[in-house]
Amino acid sequence: MKDLNISMWERAVKVIPGGVNSPVRSFAAVGGTPYFVQRAKGAHVYDLNGRGYIDYVQSYGASILGHGDSRVTSAVAQAAERGTTYGAPTEGEVLLAEEIVKRVRNVDMVRLVSSGTEATMTALRLARGVTGRDKIVKFDGCYHGHSDQLLASAGSGVAALGLTGSTGVSQKSVADTLVVPYNEVPVLDDETACVIVEPVAANMGVVAPQDGFLEGLRQECDRVGAILIFDEVITGFRVAKGGVTDIFDVTPDLFCFGKVIGGGLPVGALAGRRDLMEELAPLGPIYQAGTLSGNPIATAAGLAVLEVLDESSYAMLEGRSKFLAEGLHKVIAEAGFSVQVARFGPLLSLFFGDSPITNYEQAKQSVALGAYPYFFHAMLQRGVALAPGPYEAMFPSLAHSWDDIELTVDLASAAAAQAWSLWNANELPTSVR
Ligand SMILES: Cc1ncc(COP(=O)(O)O)c(C=O)c1O
Repeated sequence: MKDLNISMWERAVKVIPGGVNSPVRSFAAVGGTPYFVQRAKGAHVYDLNGRGYIDYVQSYGASILGHGDSRVTSAVAQAAERGTTYGAPTEGEVLLAEEIVKRVRNVDMVRLVSSGTEATMTALRLARGVTGRDKIVKFDGCYHGHSDQLLASAGSGVAALGLTGSTGVSQKSVADTLVVPYNEVPVLDDETACVIVEPVAANMGVVAPQDGFLEGLRQECDRVGAILIFDEVITGFRVAKGGVTDIFDVTPDLFCFGKVIGGGLPVGALAGRRDLMEELAPLGPIYQAGTLSGNPIATAAGLAVLEVLDESSYAMLEGRSKFLAEGLHKVIAEAGFSVQVARFGPLLSLFFGDSPITNYEQAKQSVALGAYPYFFHAMLQRGVALAPGPYEAMFPSLAHSWDDIELTVDLASAAAAQAWSLWNANELPTSVR
């Protein structure tokens, strides 16, 4: 029988660069050909051949309720009936902003945009605008979207493709970007406009902040008058009801959100203190805009998701993720690998090797062992979809039942045994050869 994924791939590469509209979807880091998703429901995606996979990609964290949740799809359908975009304010924007303000400590105002990239770009512009300074500090291996100034030593797909940044980004664009190691508090000077950080890093695998790191950043920013930006595009409304500031007693000046608050549609948000946010146009001199910002379908989807997420959702995610992490660790180690399953609440990732990972240099050393592609393909063959890149997190959703999680661990046991023997023989899986 003809493999419909392969024939679609052959068409895709002719008309879409690399066959994908975002490099993380390509199989460049693991080898082989991507499956095309034809439909998805709950914890599962189905490819063009009708084959199902337990999906831990979940749109890289955009689907916390799982795919095609009926509360979200009916909110989307109802919103679409009322029109898809107007270019005038809507109630949905106010409701979503109010919900974010209600949930996150020290957020007074929210500006909705259409992606995480836009949120971080705007955050930097605002920080530079209010401080009158140019220099920004980011951390090695943290990914903040694909704007020029932040494409220096980024994680995620940039790391998976082995790029340090990107061709096409001018030296001048990154001349004011200082990249420093994660989990070390840099000494700032009074030319620093802002420090942007993933408060729990999830684009170099999952790397938690060590004790004192976030507190140290807050103190150092205060010392020199720089703005502290938490990029919570992944962690926001995923690790806790109000994001990481429910967990760590550190308050940034600005927050960037995305993913969960769009319910699977394109949304991002910049949020923060009123005195800063009021510097944005039209109130202030710092310009930012978007034709589809606060789109009514996207806000309806985001609101439908947030309405579901209460304390019990996070307890459920935590319990299942813990079981998954412990189960994966056990069976992968039993197969022979040295491995660590890094977990922060419902975010987890695999690090092969036995040293604990606290920064990007160590994460790269783990990835260089080259085991991930073997495990990835062995899981895919058995019907479990992990991200096709070693630096990405796994995203168990609320739709992953105990059965799904237990089955994943069972399948991982056989997958790890196969991966172990192929890795030792240095033989790529048949689907890749
Ligand atoms: C922490 C973080 N910030 C920003 C972004 C960029 O968001 P988007 O892909 O919506 O532009 C991402 C995307 O994965 C992210 O993980």
